[in-house]
Amino acid sequence: MSDTAFKVRVWDLPTRLFHWTLAALVTGSFVSVKLGNMVWHGRLGYAVLALLLFRLVWGFAGGGYSRFSAFVRGPGSVMAYLRGASHGPGHNPLGALSVLAMLAALLFQASSGLFTNDDIAFEGPLSHRVSGALASLLTTWHRLNENILIALVVVHVAAIVYYRLRLKQDLIGPMLTGDALLSRPYPGSPDNLAMRLRALAIATVCAALVAWIIAL
Ligand code: HEM
Ligand code: HEM
Repeated sequence: MSDTAFKVRVWDLPTRLFHWTLAALVTGSFVSVKLGNMVWHGRLGYAVLALLLFRLVWGFAGGGYSRFSAFVRGPGSVMAYLRGASHGPGHNPLGALSVLAMLAALLFQASSGLFTNDDIAFEGPLSHRVSGALASLLTTWHRLNENILIALVVVHVAAIVYYRLRLKQDLIGPMLTGDALLSRPYPGSPDNLAMRLRALAIATVCAALVAWIIAL
């Protein structure tokens, strides 16, 4: 076997920007709530919501390995992967489950936040639209989901470190530069100007949608 490596564009720029902005904003919403700055907690949460909506649309309207159809696999593929089956570029079948779990838990967190009420001075913009009982239920779930989010992010980062140290596979580099060095010349994800403009248009609509929701 030759050890030639082929440089393949795995993560398009929109997906990479999505990832690092998401990590920064989620960290910011944790820090702000712990510091008691609810105004910034809310703002960062709205931005997270817009980002998540973008990623959901990008999973269908994006290209290459960012599409859900490229990485969402059934239990059979996950078991095969655990038994050592190889997989193409992008999220592996098990990692895909953690990606979906993080997206779902964050979507719940950011959208339940809209209905929260801290019983002191701050309430989410849609809190007055639902009954007091529902608002406090969603606030309780919003608080409980903190533990799930922390667990998911810890497992996520631990998995990346495990890949680096044990499996000698660098996953962070491709999430930064877009490119991975692979053993075969797999087709790359389209990451040209047209795709990036498409992502910008989608992100703008998602941001406008969130702005509209919070103004309701
Ligand atoms: C609050 C913190 C974080 C959150 C919520 C988060 C969330 C996510 C999500 C949703 C994805 C899927 C990307 C996509 O397909 O759109 C992902 C992938 C990834 N994340 Fe994070 N992330 C966080 C922190 C980090 C950190 C600190 C690192 C670096 C150590 C990291 C490294 C990666 C890498 C390398 C991938 C790609 C994994 C693969 O190749 O399958 N993440 N992350
Ligand atoms: C990524 C999005 C979000 C994350 C990760 C997040 C995280 C958290 C966490 C961890 C807590 C519990 C803090 C503690 O008890 O120490 C909390 C509480 C709270 N969050 Fe969020 N949040 C998000 C979005 C939002 C949004 C969009 C709003 C409203 C606009 C909001 C409003 C609140 C309120 C009012 C509380 C206090 C509830 C109480 O009285 O205990 N959050 N959030």
